[in-house]
Order: sequence, then C-alpha cells, then structure tokens
Amino acid sequence: MDKFVITGGTRLTGEVSISGAKNAAIAIIPAVILSEGVCRIENVPNITDVTAITRILQDMGAVIRSVNKSTLEIDSRPIRSYVASYELARHMRASYYLLGALLGRFSHAVVTMPGGCDFGVRPIDQHLKGFSALGASYKLENGMVDVYSDQLVGSNIYMDVVTVGATVNTMLAAVRAKGTTVIENAAKEPHIVDLANFLNTMGADVRGAGTDVIKINGVEHLHGCTYSIIPDQIEAGTYMVAAAATGGDVTVGNVIPKHLESISAKLEEMGVEVEEYDDAVRVRRTKPLNKCNIKTMPHPGFPTDMQPQIAVLLSIARGTSIINEGIWDNRFRYVEELRRMGAQISVDGKVAVVEGIDHLTAAPVKATDLRAGAAMLIAAMCAHGVSSVEDIQHIERGYENVEEKFRALGADIRRVHVEETPSVARAV
Ligand code: EPU
Repeated sequence: MDKFVITGGTRLTGEVSISGAKNAAIAIIPAVILSEGVCRIENVPNITDVTAITRILQDMGAVIRSVNKSTLEIDSRPIRSYVASYELARHMRASYYLLGALLGRFSHAVVTMPGGCDFGVRPIDQHLKGFSALGASYKLENGMVDVYSDQLVGSNIYMDVVTVGATVNTMLAAVRAKGTTVIENAAKEPHIVDLANFLNTMGADVRGAGTDVIKINGVEHLHGCTYSIIPDQIEAGTYMVAAAATGGDVTVGNVIPKHLESISAKLEEMGVEVEEYDDAVRVRRTKPLNKCNIKTMPHPGFPTDMQPQIAVLLSIARGTSIINEGIWDNRFRYVEELRRMGAQISVDGKVAVVEGIDHLTAAPVKATDLRAGAAMLIAAMCAHGVSSVEDIQHIERGYENVEEKFRALGADIRRVHVEETPSVARAV
C-alpha cells in the first residue's frame, strides 16, 4: 500500500489538463451492454473505478480493447450472462448501473447490493421504483438484487428525491423498453446529459436530459458508435480549489466552464479570481480568503462532491463559514482528519461550522473516502511542514495521475510505499 508525502507551502502555478468524467464513464461503460455493435469510447479516465467496471464487463464476456491510454473499444455482444460477479462488483457503488443495463438487454439482472464511499445510508428504493414502474419485479436476497420482467413497458415515474443513480438506472432500463417513459424530478447533472447523448449516439431517443423531465421513447435496437466523455467537473473543481488554497495561479484546461459555475461563483465570493476561457478556467489568488457559506445541492447547485475540498479553503479563510450538506447524511467524516492539522471545525448532523485560522499545520492524515482524500491532499499542500496522506487507494478511484498532475504544478508530493504491518505487531 502507498501513501503520499507532501511538503506544504508551494504556490501551485501552471496548467493542468482535466481527464474524462468518472461519474459519466462509470455510467456509459455499462450502457454499452445495451448495444448491438462495438462502441469506441474516448476520453476515458485512467482511474481504478473504470478498471473495476471494465473488469466486471470482461468477466461477463465483453471484449474490451485499449486503443490508447484514454480510448476503449467495447464489444458487449458476447455477453451471455445477466449475473455480475459478486466479488468484482461488491466494492463498487456504480456496479448498480449493471442492473439497469442488464435488465434493458436481458430483461433480467442479478447484481450485488452496492458498496462505494460510506456517507451513511445509501438506499436504492428509487432505482427499484423505476424498474417496477417499467413492469419489472425484484427480490433482495443474500445481499443480491435480482430484477426481472417478461417485457419492460414505458411508463411515468416521479422520483421522490433527486437522485443521479436512479435517474441513470431508469434511463438504462427504459431505452429499449416498449413505448414511452417519462422520468419526472430527474437529476440534471452533466453526466446525466452525457449518458443521454451517448445513448442517442447509439440510436436511442432520449429527450430533455439536463432538465427535470426526461422523456425516453423506447427503440428496439442500439448500434455501435464512437463517443467522447465530457471532462470531469469535480476533478476540475479540485484543482481550482487547490490553486486557491496555495495562493497559486493555475489554468485548469480541457473543461466545460459552464459545468464549473457553482464552484467558480463560490471561489469568487471568497476573493479568488476566476477567468473563464472557451475550454479552460484560470484561478488566481492574490489576497486573503473571505468566509463564505456553502449549501450542497443537486446540479446546478454546489456539488456535494466538492464539499470536503472547499472546507479546506474555508478553514484558512477570514471569519466563520457554515457548510450545510444537503445530499448525504454523513459526509463530514474527514473533519476529524482536518482537525489534526489544526482546522477549527465543529459538526452537528449535516451542518459544519468552520472558524477560519491563519494556516494549517502538517500532520499524518488518512483519506476516509475519495473526495475526503482529495481534500487531504489540498490541506497538506497548503499546510506548514511535511504531511502524509494514507489510504490513497480511495483517491485513485477517481483522480487520474493525481501525483504527476500536482507535481507538474509545483507541488512537493511523492509516493512512498508503506510496508504492511505484520498482524502480530498490529495486535500489540
Ligand atoms: N437516494 C434515495 N434513494 C435512492 C437513491 C438515492 O433516497 O434510491 C438519496 C441518497 O440517499 C442521497 C440522494 O438521494 O441522499 C442523492 O443520491 P444519488 O442517487 O444522487 O447518489 P448516487 O447516484 O449514489 C452519485 C455519485 C456520487 C455523488 C452523488 C450526488 C456516482 C457513481 N456517484 O451517487 O459521487 O455524491 O451522485 O451527486 O455517480 C463521488 O464521485 O465522490 C461520489 C460519491
């Protein structure tokens, strides 16, 4: 197992190029199961969540070829099984997208209950509501979800909460169903639009993605295609916040600035300069940071996946800021780690109160989940002294070449191999 050792205090400067969006890739790759041809997917991020989902598809019989470091060619026609490997799927939350995709193709899917980052209860009732509305039945047995139907038939579905996962899964199941499906109160995230564009490129008829009503006219066949995944909004936001936290000047390239508006707006409120270009944003901080309140919300609100990173920034801003977590019940587990670096943050349920301090101080910390891990990297880069960040496997689920990208911006970051402690020693 590796850890990162980071010496803080360097201003990040220069340019960084953003990779393809994780949360789009892990929906689009399973969506290929619905295709009756070969799909060439470009701008695929090289992250372990993508490796995991491609491995599951291969295990089921798909033929996957790496054309180059960010392009995959996937032929899902050889897949004969509607059962996803329990061992491969159980660690990955997004393996639940196999439910919608396999159901859409075989009218039957058996997939383990999802794992993934631990933010408290992560129900799938709305996914099951979507499948049921299309005429499917389901059983939950031995940790597996078994969904089946004779014939999926389009229908109207109102989502009780705005959920990315259930919107994606219902789209996947509906795209080859008979008739028309309407999803109301649908999620509007950029990756929902990207999935709809991908499905349409394969011959689907999906309209309204990006609004809260998505209409899907079922089609019988989907063909192969070539498609390029959008840039990752959250990876971009992470580098933007890192630039601001270190008092740096960074151009974050290969982005869609519109997707970053909620993040840019908050940075500007804190006194950071953000300049937008066609496919880049330049983030520069030349003065102290101002306090600012954050409430995370579904898109186009401030993304929950940027909440830990922005908390680092608020912890070195002037004044007291309030963070309201509007999506997850338990997304402040990282606060304990940040406190080890001197941050003054108190948490009550879904609200955190951040008292800004002059600077953070280096400490050994852990990545408690993917975005928490990104926040620890930023904290270590702006802290005084040498920090270490452990459990970096969480970070590698969603950030391509994170060490190289930060180093190219001037960060003093290196990867160090940590020997496993023998179990006897651990017991002492
Ligand atoms: N919810 C339900 N019932 C459901 C589904 C969701 O009540 O059936 C609730 C959840 O408990 C939560 C809210 O709805 O309170 C939103 O959940 P959503 O379904 O939108 O989350 P998700 O699809 O499980 C995705 C991302 C997360 C991101 C959230 C919110 C993927 C694989 N994951 O999760 O990303 O936090 O949307 O934007 O796309 C990350 O990338 O770090 C990450 C955790």
